[in-house]
Amino acid sequence: MMLEVTDLTLRYGQSEVLHGMNLTAKAGEVTAVMGVNGVGKTSLMKAIVGRHPYRGGTIRLDGRDLNHPSAVQAAKAGIAYVPQGREVFPLMTVADNLRTGFACLDRDARTVPDRIFDLFPILDQMRNRRGGDLSGGQQQQLAIARALITRPKVLLLDEPTEGIQPSIIKDIGRVIETLRSEGEIAVVLVEQYFEFAVGLADRVTVVSGGVVSYETEDVGGSRDDILRAVAL
Ligand SMILES: Nc1ncnc2c1ncn2[C@@H]1O[C@H](COP(=O)(O)OP(=O)(O)O)[C@@H](O)[C@H]1O
Ligand SMILES: [Mg+2]
Repeated sequence: MMLEVTDLTLRYGQSEVLHGMNLTAKAGEVTAVMGVNGVGKTSLMKAIVGRHPYRGGTIRLDGRDLNHPSAVQAAKAGIAYVPQGREVFPLMTVADNLRTGFACLDRDARTVPDRIFDLFPILDQMRNRRGGDLSGGQQQQLAIARALITRPKVLLLDEPTEGIQPSIIKDIGRVIETLRSEGEIAVVLVEQYFEFAVGLADRVTVVSGGVVSYETEDVGGSRDDILRAVAL
């Protein structure tokens, strides 16, 4: 299983913010997308999940061109997105928030896999609490669980550690490691927390100014180069 983004361009109105982006993500691997604020990381995620149209380039899943998918088509193709800022529904219970993940599934496929609660025991304890009553870190876990509920092939995480307490960052890191070791899902991790991203990643793509400025599959051996590329 492989996601391949090639030469992607994207605009807001007349202003182009992605000028030919490339990204590769493979099952059983973590691809970290790094770069400072405003370089186009979230725009890239939005294009992949059909939340914003792209202008040029291709998005391929297992060699098949998704060809400008709507959000529902992207979800049905197996791409799940955990948005920056989480987007948990504050007045809905944890259980109902999870069920919103089912929107793209056929009715008979709408069951919560048990492993969701193995991965996130806290959500089991908090099933009947409102989303808005959870801590930021718990909401992030809920957002990840909601994305996993559709058994995706690709999981896009947009800055999952942003504004979250260290103990929950560790829990989220363990979940990402579990997913990687199971080998079924391609994880794309957009991150500005350098140590977290580099510690988990099998490959790193650094974005600056709407293009890829650096790429490596030798993450351990390239720490300094990654750091330099992010800082530029
Ligand atoms: N909805 C939007 N309308 C207009 N410009 C936007 C919109 N969203 C993002 N941008 C601009 O696009 C650029 C890339 O933003 P974004 O993809 O959010 O970057 P990142 O996630 O790397 O911080 C920034 O200059 C940002 O101001
Ligand atoms: Mg962003």
